[in-house]
Amino acid sequence: MNDNLFDFGMIGLGVMGRNLLLNMADHGFSAIGFDKDESKGKLLESAATKGTVVKGVSTLAEMVQQLKTPRKLMMLVPAGKPVDDVIYDLLPLLEKGDIVIDGGNSHYTDTLRRLDYLKDKNMHFMGIGISGGEHGARTGPSIMPGGNLEAYHQVRPILEAVSAKVNGSPCVAHLGNGAAGHYVKMVHNGIEYAIMQLISESYDLLHRGLGLDNDTLAKTYKNWDETELQSFLIEITKDIFLKQDDKTSNRLVDMILDKAGSKGTGKWTSQDAMDIGMPVPVIDMAVSMRDLSSWKEQRVQAAALYKTAITQINVPAEIFIRQVEDALYFAIIIAYAQGLAMLHTASFELKMEIPLPEVVRIWRGGCIIRSSLLENFFKAFTANPQLSNLLLDADIATLLQNKAQATRAVLTHAIQTGFPVAGFMSALSYFDAYRSEKLPVNLIQAQRDCFGAHTYQRIDMPGIFHTEWQ
Ligand code: 6PG
Repeated sequence: MNDNLFDFGMIGLGVMGRNLLLNMADHGFSAIGFDKDESKGKLLESAATKGTVVKGVSTLAEMVQQLKTPRKLMMLVPAGKPVDDVIYDLLPLLEKGDIVIDGGNSHYTDTLRRLDYLKDKNMHFMGIGISGGEHGARTGPSIMPGGNLEAYHQVRPILEAVSAKVNGSPCVAHLGNGAAGHYVKMVHNGIEYAIMQLISESYDLLHRGLGLDNDTLAKTYKNWDETELQSFLIEITKDIFLKQDDKTSNRLVDMILDKAGSKGTGKWTSQDAMDIGMPVPVIDMAVSMRDLSSWKEQRVQAAALYKTAITQINVPAEIFIRQVEDALYFAIIIAYAQGLAMLHTASFELKMEIPLPEVVRIWRGGCIIRSSLLENFFKAFTANPQLSNLLLDADIATLLQNKAQATRAVLTHAIQTGFPVAGFMSALSYFDAYRSEKLPVNLIQAQRDCFGAHTYQRIDMPGIFHTEWQ
């Protein structure tokens, strides 16, 4: 074998591709990157750590020729057609046994389609979810591979080397069959949307409701980050409050328009959850609230029509801050529980065999939703890998019960003063419904049977019944 050949190739040298490839090089792998835009190859080389082996090229053929066989390549290109285009361009260049990874946020059904198309071709195709943003890609992301186990074992040493580590254990694991990697990443993003929505609601209550300024908010979230709520998203939030705007004398957060963007992964989670009959209302609400936020002009009109005024929350600051902290903790647990319950069901429904203890283990580090809570979840799923919902774990139940009262108090104040807290409300409603032995849907069943002869079951005898109601 030629020593001049490279260990790993990256297709697409945007910031994620470049950073992940540089991370590989930092761990002793010789790395080659391709991007049609020559300047990106140059940028890659100039950003490499001294002493590492990194090369940028501007044709795919050049890269393929310079890789050790079986070749190991990853593409980090926008989801959708660009992924198909790369596959199409690569096929004539590769040999049997070569491994091609799609490391982007592809929809899992696209990954399934590609796996099917490529099953008799000269390429082991793998869908891998990668989380951690630009910084994580460079310093240690959480990596969610799925699909062919043999191919995984060939790339495993590289993935383990570059991933984040928690107590020395790499935040990467084989997460199941077929498109499981992209499926787990999709749900990760759904949870990410939910937590971000909840944090934004907590900010609204403390900032507009309680009147805390950015410095006090920074201190508050810093305190939270040092206790139970310790997590990446709380950590970056505390720093965001301190960031100075370079165009005015204000804090940047106050100068940002309140219209949230999204690339669709949260919506995919909600869509798919409905397809498999799994309620994930905090995620749904987070998606809806981002959509609603984008209707700024209508909101301005409605605020004038309804004479919406900011109302102060009249509770001693110290008490309310504590209650919001507890409510956030409570609602974040519910958001994780919904996403993980969805994975539990998808694992069976879609025959993915997703190992939940491994999912929560590798989410402990590197990814956007890493938090100290993942340790609690890891314990719960290690004790019972088939746990269908975290709410059924006795320790998690205790955590939730301890925080439920404060959550109700926060919601009472929010409702009375008119603050929009859809995420918190849906978390509490889910909790209340999930732990209800009795729900009022006997009436819904009666209505369905009354107008549509949809039938119902009885509580006192087995069978399917229909009644002539009128
Ligand atoms: C991650 C993130 C990332 C995601 C962005 C974009 O885990 O690193 O989940 O993969 O693409 O957060 O999400 P939106 O643009 O849809 O908010």
